Amino acid sequence: MLVSGKEILLDAHKKGYAVGAFNVNNMEIVQAIIEAAKETNSPVILQASQGGLKYAGVEYIAAMAKVAAETAKVPVAIHLDHGTDFVQIMKCIRNGFTSVMIDGSKYPLEENIAITKKVVEIAHAVGVSVEAELGKIGGTEDDITVDERDATFTDPDEAERFVKETGVDYLAIAIGTAHGPYKGEPKLDFDRLKVIKERLNMPIVLHGSSGVPEESIKKAVSLGVNKINIDTDIRMAFNKGVREFVENNPDVYDPRKILGPAREEMKKVIIEKMIMFGSAGRA
Ligand code: G3H
Ligand code: 13P
Ligand code: ZN
Ligand code: NA
Repeated sequence: MLVSGKEILLDAHKKGYAVGAFNVNNMEIVQAIIEAAKETNSPVILQASQGGLKYAGVEYIAAMAKVAAETAKVPVAIHLDHGTDFVQIMKCIRNGFTSVMIDGSKYPLEENIAITKKVVEIAHAVGVSVEAELGKIGGTEDDITVDERDATFTDPDEAERFVKETGVDYLAIAIGTAHGPYKGEPKLDFDRLKVIKERLNMPIVLHGSSGVPEESIKKAVSLGVNKINIDTDIRMAFNKGVREFVENNPDVYDPRKILGPAREEMKKVIIEKMIMFGSAGRA
């Protein structure tokens, strides 16, 4: 069932659980996610990055995600991940996305507010939900000091003002997670999360969630995270599935036989996440 992102995340916010937002780039990933959602009776968010849309085409991603949503009884939202281009955000809305992210986190506060506000005004007019980002979520390649790390974290005062002025539906915050795999164990600023959640009282988004230990994920959910972005862990499962099959069956060249096991590997990982996040059984 295709629904808005807000519908899914407001329920999660009210009841205190989180929903996985899984990055999709091809049919097998979409199928792995939707099968996992059906099996665990979990609401789910299918999201595509600008890179994903460039690879597959926005029309293909939208069409596949819509088929997945319409053939499932569980609530499904289709979301643009890290949108930075106004025209592309409009294209996603036109193609039936029910949620978009406008990522203005690299701009100074005033500018981030201005571009986010513009997207919110248009998206809300047509029933599409909006995610924005405040603070800077790292890449694991970024070699930064602890002080620099803290300076990039989301400031609670700024967050309060940002939400009030933009009218955004959910906010991605920087509390120490990073995109991609981690070198060591990520140290999350749970006190900051707690303060931000109390002050905003709205759905909170955690990016870079692949590689974050189960205990930290569960603590983050208990403190108010409601949308958890996962990409790298799915990529790794895909890679494992393909590699194992190809290494064990060097003479097989049928793409269905090669990608089938990868789809199963991804589904297993996604089911684990849905249980971990607390979305299983909530549909
Ligand atoms: O946040 C980034 C996501 O993992 C998407 O990555 O831009 O390589 O598709 P990508
Ligand atoms: P990971 O690749 O670390 O799971 O991050 C995904 C993400 O935040 C997508 O927006
Ligand atoms: Zn992200
Ligand atoms: Na990560």
